[in-house]
Formats: sequence, C-alpha cells, structure tokens
Amino acid sequence: MSQTLDTGQSSTTDSPISPTLRYPGTTRILHWLIAVLVLATWPLGYVIKFVKGEVSLDFYLIHESLGFLILWVMLLRIGNKLIARKPPHDGPAIERIAAEAVHGLLYVFLIVMPVSGFLATNAHGFPLKWFGLIEVWSPIGKSPDIAWTLSAIHEWSAFILLGLFVMHIGAVLFHHVLRRDATLYRIL
Ligand code: HEM
Ligand code: HEM
Repeated sequence: MSQTLDTGQSSTTDSPISPTLRYPGTTRILHWLIAVLVLATWPLGYVIKFVKGEVSLDFYLIHESLGFLILWVMLLRIGNKLIARKPPHDGPAIERIAAEAVHGLLYVFLIVMPVSGFLATNAHGFPLKWFGLIEVWSPIGKSPDIAWTLSAIHEWSAFILLGLFVMHIGAVLFHHVLRRDATLYRIL
C-alpha cells in the first residue's frame, strides 16, 4: 500500500500525488458517498432498540431507507470497480494482500447488510416504503420461520462490518501517521 509522496506532478489537480496514483473520480465519489451513508446508517440501526414510542417508527424508516439506498449505490460501485482503472500498489506483497482482503470483505458485507436487513424486515411482516414514498416489492413476504435467522445475520454482519471498518481506519492511520506515505491521498 505504501507510496512515496510525489509533489512534482500535480499541476492539473490539488492533490499532492500524481494522478496515476489516485483512484479515478468515480471511485473516489462512490467511496465517500458510501462512507457517509454507512456512518449514518450503522449508528441509526444500533440506537433503534433504545428509542421508545412512536418516534421509533421514524428511526426504522430512515435507517431502512438509507440502508436500501446503500444497496443500489453499492451495485453501482461494483460496476465501477469492474471497469475503473486501479492505481498501482507498490508496497510489500503481504500489505497488498491484506488491503485487498479487507476491501473485498467490505464490499461483501456492504451487500450482505442491506439484503439481510431488507429481507428480515419483509419476513417479520413489514414491507419497506422507501423514504415513505415508494412501496418496494417484497420477494419473500411475511415469513416468520426465517425472520429471526435473517435478523441474526443482519446483527452479526453489523459487527463484522464494524470490525472491518476499524481495520480499515487502523490501516489508513498507520500509513498516514506512522509511515507518513501518500496512501490517504489516493482516495481524496
Ligand atoms: C449497509 C446497510 C445497513 C447497515 C450498516 C445496517 C446496520 C444496522 C445495525 C448496526 C443494526 C443494529 C444491530 C443490533 O441491534 O445489534 C441494525 C438493525 C436493524 N436494521 Fe439495519 N443496516 C443496514 C441496512 C438495513 C436495511 C436495508 C434494512 C431494512 C430495509 C434494515 C433494517 C434493520 C432493522 C429492522 C433492524 C433492527 C432494529 C431493532 O429493532 O433493533 N437495515 N442495522
Ligand atoms: C471515514 C473515513 C475513511 C477514510 C479516511 C478512508 C480511507 C481510505 C483510503 C486511504 C483508501 C485507499 C486505500 C488504498 O489505496 O489501498 C480507501 C479505500 C477503500 N475504502 Fe475507505 N476510508 C474511509 C471510510 C470507509 C468506509 C466507511 C468504508 C466502507 C464501509 C470504506 C471502504 C473502502 C473500500 C472498499 C476501499 C477500496 C477502494 C475500492 O476498491 O473501492 N472506507 N479508503
């Protein structure tokens, strides 16, 4: 993952690194859009169980609607990943493999989370009205037999996603603060 800061080739951008070492614009925009959505959706999901009364319905609706939006943005992101240029990594093989593994698992759990949440909600008998506007077709309908299994997948996946995020931020801090290389600028 490590890059040496390259300050000489940035005349056309504000970035301190060469454009070839940065992720393309679409990848950067999708990265930060998903980051903002996840950083709002995850805590909202967690606090729902502590919210009492009618207002909890608003928490459910906002959490579920933002979560469902993440699913569609992630599908775009996967499409983008398949076609977008990937800037080269020149760090040791072990670091490249670790980064690829964490990034790959983040992709997997960012699909598992919204799909399990959506199906669990359907299975418990609550169809999603996206942002209160669009009734989303339920592929399974009310299915009490599998509802709690789907809820458990959603809950466990939430903690795996949190673990992956902590590793991700740990790696970013390691590169930026300790090693002082240009990894962070690749995505800015
Ligand atoms: C990437 C997207 C999502 C993330 C990161 C996320 C995250 C979370 C988290 C952290 C929790 C709390 C788990 C716990 O209690 O320990 C949760 C609960 C929940 N989520 Fe999601 N979620 C996402 C998408 C969705 C979607 C799309 C739906 C439904 C359409 C949904 C429905 C629910 C429901 C019903 C709960 C249970 C709330 C309760 O009664 O405690 N989630 N979610
Ligand atoms: C909030 C602060 C965040 C920072 C500072 C940050 C920083 C970075 C950096 C520097 C990279 C490039 C790593 C490299 O080139 O090896 C990157 C890539 C990546 N980040 Fe983040 N990130 C953040 C949040 C998130 C969140 C919330 C997620 C998902 C839950 C995420 C998922 C990813 C993924 C999957 C990649 C790989 C790029 C791709 O293939 O799309 N990041 N991030």
